[in-house]
Amino acid sequence: MCRQILFDNEIFFEGYRAIRQNPDCANLLTEKPALFSMLGEIRGKRILDLGCGYGENCLAFEEMGALAVTGVDISEKMLAVARQENPGKEIRYIHMPMENIRSFRPNEFDVVVSSLAIHYVEDFEALARDIFSLLSPKGIFLFSQEHPLTTAPEKGVRWLQNADGKEEGYVVTDYARPGRRSIHWMIDGVVKYHRTFSDLVNGLCAAGFCIEEMREPLPPKEAFGRIPSLEKEKHKPNFLLIKAQKP
Ligand SMILES: C[S@@+](CC[C@H](N)C(=O)[O-])C[C@H]1O[C@@H](n2cnc3c(N)ncnc32)[C@H](O)[C@@H]1O
Repeated sequence: MCRQILFDNEIFFEGYRAIRQNPDCANLLTEKPALFSMLGEIRGKRILDLGCGYGENCLAFEEMGALAVTGVDISEKMLAVARQENPGKEIRYIHMPMENIRSFRPNEFDVVVSSLAIHYVEDFEALARDIFSLLSPKGIFLFSQEHPLTTAPEKGVRWLQNADGKEEGYVVTDYARPGRRSIHWMIDGVVKYHRTFSDLVNGLCAAGFCIEEMREPLPPKEAFGRIPSLEKEKHKPNFLLIKAQKP
């Protein structure tokens, strides 16, 4: 499955929509609260959201007082939802791969955010360089992605389970073999890119960024009692978030 059509694939699109409509999905329980808590003050700022999907975050940025919000996504279907469900006076949605953001002007944005989309991009170093050049001085790049321990395995069993089927540990394989992964997630051939922690940190530093904060968030405490399957995240968190600043 080539990257251009993944979220436009009907089966994948409908399956992903169903996941996101669950109020207990990992995005709502864990990823978004962490992302927004790391964001900082965005009042009066110009925001670029890479892989904006349904545009939920773009609308939230506008409501938080952003001066202008640009949402970029490679999927027509995701953007159709964004335009219909999350329009805003200060929001523009643009259909383009984030690999093409060099078409924006240098210093055009104060904050670049990306929620769970960067692991679909092959060349992180090039992307980090492009983002650096679009940001104003002191500008922020904040992104979340699948945890590197999640993207690592090429194949095989991921969880060690006890006799009751409870996850007792996570099997890490192929960690030090960065690159393309083709997995089954609702459909065959979903392509993502595995990067080690050092690939990510060094990619940001090589572009010129200073790293401000990293998080590997867990769901809120109340959720562990309600949803026993979350216990396994204590062995391996689902997400990695990094906040970097242009000096
Ligand atoms: C998991 S969804 C997350 C959507 C949104 N950021 C959110 O958190 O609700 C990933 C999004 O990234 C988009 N995407 C994947 N690869 C992309 C690329 N190379 N350029 C732009 N968007 C991309 C997909 O179309 C999809 O909308």
